[in-house]
Amino acid sequence: MPLLFTPLTLPAPDGDGLTLRNRAIVAPMCQYVIDAEDGVPTDWHLQHLGSFAAGGFGLVTTEATGVEARGRISPRDVGLYTDAQQQAHQRLVRFIHSQGAAAAVQLAHAGGKASTYPWLPGQPDGTVPAADGGWQTAGVADAPVLPGLDAATALSEQGIAEVVAAFAAAARRADAAGYDAIQLHAAHGYLMHQFLSPLTNTRIDGYGGDEERRTRLVREVAAAVRAVWPAHKPLGIRISATDWVDGGWDVAASARLLRRLATDHGVTWVDVSSGGLGRGADIAVGPGYQVTLAAELTRELAGTPLVVSTVGLIDEAIQAETILASGQAHAVSIGRAALRDPHWAASAASRLGVPRTEIPYPPQYWRANW
Ligand SMILES: Cc1cc2nc3c(=O)[nH]c(=O)nc-3n(C[C@H](O)[C@H](O)[C@H](O)COP(=O)(O)O)c2cc1C
Repeated sequence: MPLLFTPLTLPAPDGDGLTLRNRAIVAPMCQYVIDAEDGVPTDWHLQHLGSFAAGGFGLVTTEATGVEARGRISPRDVGLYTDAQQQAHQRLVRFIHSQGAAAAVQLAHAGGKASTYPWLPGQPDGTVPAADGGWQTAGVADAPVLPGLDAATALSEQGIAEVVAAFAAAARRADAAGYDAIQLHAAHGYLMHQFLSPLTNTRIDGYGGDEERRTRLVREVAAAVRAVWPAHKPLGIRISATDWVDGGWDVAASARLLRRLATDHGVTWVDVSSGGLGRGADIAVGPGYQVTLAAELTRELAGTPLVVSTVGLIDEAIQAETILASGQAHAVSIGRAALRDPHWAASAASRLGVPRTEIPYPPQYWRANW
């Protein structure tokens, strides 16, 4: 059996953890489809995430899901802070489970990168003005996170406590909705990354300055979520392992943070991405361009319970299998290739020679002769 189709367990502090049927994970991908702008997942999300589950993936991760309204990346994004949202999430999870996949929710706060226009054809860049359904963003500092964005308002220490509480409240709702795992979004220049990186964290209070203080928000969020998230369910995090800028956040700092998160806060899964704060970041984008980051962290964190998944232009079955077989990561996250082929996992199984009876496809599709 290829390693990609060997089950993988995401450990949890209590019990056996979450065993995935294979090591193909769907990466979180915003859809920007909520016309009502109320954060409630729609039929689109059901078919979008549902088709990945039917398509054989082991774990399906939702798009960035705001823990509060002003934490959404765009007004058309999903949230998990109202009863109506929770009910709609429950419907997604039920269907994902019915197809044999596990479900993770990516809990997110966009901070100063919130209230942006959706990344859709014909949409402008930048911050959506209040007159058009946008809002004043709250972030790490009184400054725009990126050129072209409006300035955020720096969160006060009280404001930070409220954000931490919002993550915990969303985690409770995630459990009630039936999610198997949480992925905290600490990557791509969003709120937690804004605090981690010296490029954006210019604070001089208890949340800025040295690495101890810059990592405090992430550690507090992990602690607050872990305190309410059932001990038998795994807690994960997505990080930008490097800003790709001298003097920015880097792999060594990531390793130090992850070790602490694993030891002190029961974090057992890390999805390794990169970038998101601009500033001339020099990213050589190509096939598997972030695998070396995951490989370094897999090596550094050996001996901890952390499961490492890698993401970024992993499009081919044989490429994914090679990454796993060479020990560079324990799992692969697939983004755009899954949009092109929601049945990527079943197709990959077929290409890697998995026996037909073991390929993860719905029985009603058996005549497709995988
Ligand atoms: C349409 C789209 C939406 C995305 N939305 C998110 C998101 O909500 N959260 C996140 O962490 N990354 C997001 N990403 C990044 C992907 O999860 C992934 O890291 C990236 O696309 C690289 O992987 P790939 O080459 O397999 O697509 C998005 C990417 C795409 C293409």
